Amino acid sequence: MAEQTLTSEAWPVGLAEELIAWRRHLHRHPELSFQENRTAGFVEDILRGIDGLIVSRPTPTSVLARLIGSRPGKTLALRADMDALPIQEENTFEFASQTPGVMHACGHDGHTAMLLAAARLLAARRERLHGEIRFIFQHAEERLPGGAAELVEAGVMEGVDWVVGEHLASQLPVGQIGIAYGDMMASPDNFTIVIKGYGGHAGYPHKTVDTIAVGAQIVSNLQHIVSRLADPLDRLVISVTQFTAGSSHNVIPDTAVLKGTVRSFGERVRADARDRLHRIAEGIAAAHGAQVEIEYVYGYHPVVNDESVTHVLEEAAIELVGKEAVIHVPPGMGGEDFSAYQRKVPGTFVNIGAGNADKGIVYPHHHPRFTFDEDALQIGVRLFVLAADKLLEWERSR
Ligand code: NI
Repeated sequence: MAEQTLTSEAWPVGLAEELIAWRRHLHRHPELSFQENRTAGFVEDILRGIDGLIVSRPTPTSVLARLIGSRPGKTLALRADMDALPIQEENTFEFASQTPGVMHACGHDGHTAMLLAAARLLAARRERLHGEIRFIFQHAEERLPGGAAELVEAGVMEGVDWVVGEHLASQLPVGQIGIAYGDMMASPDNFTIVIKGYGGHAGYPHKTVDTIAVGAQIVSNLQHIVSRLADPLDRLVISVTQFTAGSSHNVIPDTAVLKGTVRSFGERVRADARDRLHRIAEGIAAAHGAQVEIEYVYGYHPVVNDESVTHVLEEAAIELVGKEAVIHVPPGMGGEDFSAYQRKVPGTFVNIGAGNADKGIVYPHHHPRFTFDEDALQIGVRLFVLAADKLLEWERSR
């Protein structure tokens, strides 16, 4: 390998400032999933200003840049997501969202800025590259069916050998990098159960089929899927997050609606949970003379990191921040559509520490006061560059 890594080379004058400026611009102008029109335009303009990139729009609000080296070789895809959330920002800093009710509350503004800077740095080395780097600026990570699946469908992964994604993480202190081998994030599936009974006077329950009483039974029996039916060693959570019914003190409603999420790793656990949910809801409804209509929507696939790619990224992370600052993160029950790329090629998803209690940067992702330490951005850029350095072949002699 090289005596000098690509990340140790000096950054062009002004790039560090631009990185912050891009992030703040994106933060000021957040856009919801599948509506990232300004964002994609902004990204495309910057990429078109970088020599050596072939820029296209695989879907209306995503951007792809291809960096084809001087000689053939392997292909690495690097991915950033670009969408914001339907949250009213409560931060008061100067670059807070100017769009009411929409906010970059997950750090995707940072991901986009980091990948732009990485594209700039790597494009400057195109002559030495054997193979190709694909920069994927993805739309709609936050909303089903997700942008990643659309991009895979559009062919962005064709000919790709590996994929690497990064996520800023406010729960990890800035300066740390979180690595996960194997299971990292769950498949987030959603369900809606509509319970249909027979409404009536609350003083005469025997003349009704009480959908609230039936719904309460379903909620508590769904808890048995995890505690009594699933293998205790399987990773599975079922949460009922919405229970809507009724409109007054003295009327038993004829309809109740339950909504919630099922999160798991692996197809067997996932399918079993879905079947058991159906069986419990239908069985309880039948026992009480009610009916149910169940809508069960499969969300993203679980994020499962490839052993060998993760190992390369771990080495890169250690080079960048030191062994003590590289944390092995346990699997979590959140979801990410990065998994759509991983179903095509081996890849890994890395957490870039971005919290800082000293600066008051303590709020979780999707909180109206979420933000991240901008010092994390350079670490993310360097890790992208170092991943390309290690996974691909470069001419070292120049
Ligand atoms: Ni996110």
